[in-house]
Amino acid sequence: MKTKPQPSFDEEFDELVDTFGHVTGVHSLTGRQKAKKLPTVPAPGVRDRAAQDALSRLGTEDESRENLNFSYQASRHEAGWLRDSLGEFYEHRWFDDVLRLVKGGKEANVYLCAANPTSGVPWLAAKVYRPRRLRNLRKDHIYREGRTDLDSSGRVIEDDGLLHAMRKRSTLGLELLHASWIEHEYQTLLKLHAAGADSPQPFARGHNAILMGYVGDAVTAAPTLNSVDLPRRLVRPLFERVVHNLEILLACRRIHGDLSAFNILYWDEEITLIDFPQAIDPEQNPSAYGIFVRDVTRICQYFQEQGLRVEPRALAGDLWRKAGYRRGPQVDLRYLNAEDAADRGFWEQVRREEEKPG
Ligand SMILES: Nc1ncnc2c1ncn2[C@@H]1O[C@H](COP(=O)(O)OP(=O)(O)OP(=O)(O)O)[C@@H](O)[C@H]1O
Ligand SMILES: [Mg+2]
Repeated sequence: MKTKPQPSFDEEFDELVDTFGHVTGVHSLTGRQKAKKLPTVPAPGVRDRAAQDALSRLGTEDESRENLNFSYQASRHEAGWLRDSLGEFYEHRWFDDVLRLVKGGKEANVYLCAANPTSGVPWLAAKVYRPRRLRNLRKDHIYREGRTDLDSSGRVIEDDGLLHAMRKRSTLGLELLHASWIEHEYQTLLKLHAAGADSPQPFARGHNAILMGYVGDAVTAAPTLNSVDLPRRLVRPLFERVVHNLEILLACRRIHGDLSAFNILYWDEEITLIDFPQAIDPEQNPSAYGIFVRDVTRICQYFQEQGLRVEPRALAGDLWRKAGYRRGPQVDLRYLNAEDAADRGFWEQVRREEEKPG
């Protein structure tokens, strides 16, 4: 059976332009084919500044960035996308150059940047979100349940018009959802960094990118843990370190939501957790416990392959309880296995806690 070839970067952009007409970043990618100018007056019902910014960005092309060239030799479309997404960081002197592509992920490309000396670090990682994200947003409802949408200044979006646009998934609504997704990742990075988690330090965020601490050196970026065979002596300590990070996450009212060895970097015998846009609040998302169990299970799978005996469901239940998330509705029965003694024990424990007076 023939498999459908993956669309190239350029094809993906073209498809996006066809689908949405204009999307942040795309207008400056299409060379001579200029985007239609949008009116600069706010659309009816649009009062929020961030939304107005988003709207005005759609139709304007920043001519001053036309000559912005980086050492990294990007294709024409990618170069335009980078100028649009990273230009503002460059102008604010966060970095001086984009050196190379670290990795193209499903949701974003990550680039190695030479930091400006004022940044206080030699390098920065720029996570630039792919426009494809806009299409995938349809599958994101499970993470958005119980989660507020944020504008690109980190404020909760409350404006009825904007909420309606997001529900309708109009062009503006998709823009806002895209921005909210990025903002959630940035806010989670801020929280985790402040709490001492092993996660990259966040430096800045823009309308389509986040600048954060880079893990690796000038030649090699840190590999993801799934590609690493750990020395025996490190298996247990690193597992415990991941568990410690899970505790920090829970204490910060966060569940990663896509945790596995693919989203942990390994460098100099240390780990760094990455990739947080889908992170959820254990108290607000009705599927929180199931998502947490899945995270813990995937982590345990990796460490089991490295020779460690661990019991994911018992561990997940333990961490959940220790963090004080006792209330029942978050622990959805659908995610527990009646045949599994650890699951049954956990469920009974939760019930006992609930039945306690006060
Ligand atoms: N701070 C960082 N320092 C070094 N490399 C990084 C950093 N952040 C991300 N990377 C690299 O970029 C890749 C993609 O990043 P990330 O997982 O955040 O994005 P993604 O698009 O959601 O990825 P995927 O869909 O593959 O999970 C990572 O797998 C990792 O190799
Ligand atoms: Mg990832």
